[in-house]
Amino acid sequence: MYIANPDRYHYMTYNRVGRSGVKLPRISLGFWHNFGDENDFESVKEMVLYAFDHGITHFDLANNYGLPDGSAETNLGRILNEELAPYRDELFISTKAGYTMWAGPYGDGGSRKYMLSSLDQSLKRLGLPYVDLFYSHRYDSETPLEETMLALVDAVKQGKALYVGLSNYPTEPLSKAIKILKSHGVEPLLFQPHYSILDQWAKDNGSMELCQKEGLGIIPYSIFNQGLLTGKYLKDIPEDSRMARSDNPFLTKEALKENLLVKLNKLNDLAKREGRTMTELAIQYIFTEPGVSSALVGVSRLSQLQELLSYTNTKLISDKVREEIHSMIGV
Ligand SMILES: NC(=O)c1ccc[n+]([C@@H]2O[C@H](COP(=O)([O-])OP(=O)(O)OC[C@H]3O[C@@H](n4cnc5c(N)ncnc54)[C@H](OP(=O)(O)O)[C@@H]3O)[C@@H](O)[C@H]2O)c1
Repeated sequence: MYIANPDRYHYMTYNRVGRSGVKLPRISLGFWHNFGDENDFESVKEMVLYAFDHGITHFDLANNYGLPDGSAETNLGRILNEELAPYRDELFISTKAGYTMWAGPYGDGGSRKYMLSSLDQSLKRLGLPYVDLFYSHRYDSETPLEETMLALVDAVKQGKALYVGLSNYPTEPLSKAIKILKSHGVEPLLFQPHYSILDQWAKDNGSMELCQKEGLGIIPYSIFNQGLLTGKYLKDIPEDSRMARSDNPFLTKEALKENLLVKLNKLNDLAKREGRTMTELAIQYIFTEPGVSSALVGVSRLSQLQELLSYTNTKLISDKVREEIHSMIGV
């Protein structure tokens, strides 16, 4: 029987999320890749329990995570049932609905029909009566925003989600969505955008500033640009990397353009000068970003998680280093 590490809260820093009562670990674990049936269940379990044993209390999922879709939730459900059940109240578990999950007109988008039936399916796979956080995974311009937001409000009223969040929303619908939720007495907890040294979308469009003003926390994802910012592609494409996998259309070798490699090499030189790895520079950039509650990471093996955890308490990068990064990437 699994017994959690008694020292698990000695390693991690916990940040308050926006103006809420919730705190999240500086690093949260994402289940998009490598936590479904594309991986061996024992490896998934080892990473999940190691994370919890080292203070990672937040696991981020979605209905469609894992191969096949839903298998990441099923695997976490099994681990919760077999190992983590006594620790459920120490965990903060999120899921999402928004992208295609099942065939036909009701398995995608932002309709009330899709959002609430998907949440029920997620709860079944996870074996839980409620999740801590339920997100609208994307803005669906074909569905009235009020309909999607009321589905989130009702998820809370039905006791199936404690908090709600928004992911990938452009600034204008984000602002409207926040207003609608608040007008129904539900304070949105988190905004989840893609954001990294190389991807300034959420800052450039003002959504990160908006969240800070409105009291939402921010949990950026793809903070390593799916591995580009770990330095692994500087020389070639390693066989065991995400880019080499044929089942992943989201990171292909076409991404490795000459101007990107120039930037990555410059960032690598800066990291070396600072006595850090590029991976450390990338995660520290997120730790030091105003308004960020947690850095959401993906990993493909335990050793990567161990390396990332080793950066939770290294000295934070200075404002000067952040400025240098910005001048390198042309911000
Ligand atoms: N809301 C959304 O729409 C959305 C979209 C995407 C992701 N997310 C969330 O964000 C999480 C993370 O996303 P992501 O996996 O795309 O992005 P990521 O964290 O930028 O990239 C993860 C990849 O980086 C590499 N990596 C991580 N640590 C490393 C280390 N110490 N050394 C070497 N390589 C390392 C691994 O690549 P290899 O696989 O090559 O080893 C790993 O699979 C997801 O699991 C999910 O929870 C949300």
